[in-house]
Amino acid sequence: MTSSIAVIGFGNIAKAIITPLFDKKLLNPKDVYCLVNTKKSLENIKKSYKYDINIFHANSKQADIIWNCKVKLLSVKPQQLENITELEKNKNDRNLMVSILAGVSLEKLIKRFPNHKCVRVVTNIPITIGKGLTGISWGQEITEDQKKFIKRLFENSSKIYEFPEDLLDIFLALTSSGPAIIALIIEALSDGGLSGGLQKKLSEELVTEMILGTVGLIKDSNLTTAELKNMVTSPGGTTISALRVLENNSLRSALIEAVVSASNRSKEFR
Ligand SMILES: NC(=O)c1ccc[n+]([C@@H]2O[C@H](COP(=O)([O-])OP(=O)(O)OC[C@H]3O[C@@H](n4cnc5c(N)ncnc54)[C@H](OP(=O)(O)O)[C@@H]3O)[C@@H](O)[C@H]2O)c1
Repeated sequence: MTSSIAVIGFGNIAKAIITPLFDKKLLNPKDVYCLVNTKKSLENIKKSYKYDINIFHANSKQADIIWNCKVKLLSVKPQQLENITELEKNKNDRNLMVSILAGVSLEKLIKRFPNHKCVRVVTNIPITIGKGLTGISWGQEITEDQKKFIKRLFENSSKIYEFPEDLLDIFLALTSSGPAIIALIIEALSDGGLSGGLQKKLSEELVTEMILGTVGLIKDSNLTTAELKNMVTSPGGTTISALRVLENNSLRSALIEAVVSASNRSKEFR
């Protein structure tokens, strides 16, 4: 990867995407031009980020330099999009705007950045440990070389899935909101352990290891989730007693509705 890249909004997710590329020397920090909004963030990054990148405050004169980069990674919050105005005067096939904004449609991006080709990407927080999931919806007229370049930005730290745009909202609901749902489940199960007399830390460790083991079993064996459930649910036993409580409290329905709700919320940003 040799071209320079601009990062509009060098926040948590942008750092998670870009840092592994520096770590693996696939990208040179000198070729990356970043923007943040506040002086405080600028100072924090200059003081504590482990690579010496070109970073500017959005309202500074130097900020305009980012528009010289052909490829831009857009990673501000969706509500901050209205503050970003392109300085490109002409449409150029090499100008690419890669947006990771939750829910913001290609149509909206193209209206905002008429002199760019736009690509919509959804990624998730486990990207910070190289275990992310990334969904990509290509806009119009993206060349194979451009696709290859964009995939290389994400493939080091995540598995890539390509989707038509109408499936990105549900992909986001499952994968981007999913970590919060799982964190809540871990927290609640640990509280169950706490209620039974375990120390909080131990309880959380047991829950996390149990989840890792269960997921590993599902992935490594040919068992379906239903078969696994039946395997550990004996007649009149403890597990069926637990499952009865969950069914009584509509946990299954609550999880389905949670995913649908996140997807609908994502659609509202369009
Ligand atoms: N968090 C997640 O799990 C997740 C997962 C997938 C995708 N996303 C998407 O990723 C995007 C970024 O999320 P995040 O969690 O990384 O947010 P974040 O940490 O708040 O980062 C946003 C960045 O944008 C900067 N910014 C704000 N306004 C700007 C402007 N006018 N010009 C230039 N930079 C500006 C902010 O600077 P200051 O720090 O100075 O304000 C900050 O560096 C969001 O659109 C979100 O939908 C998030």
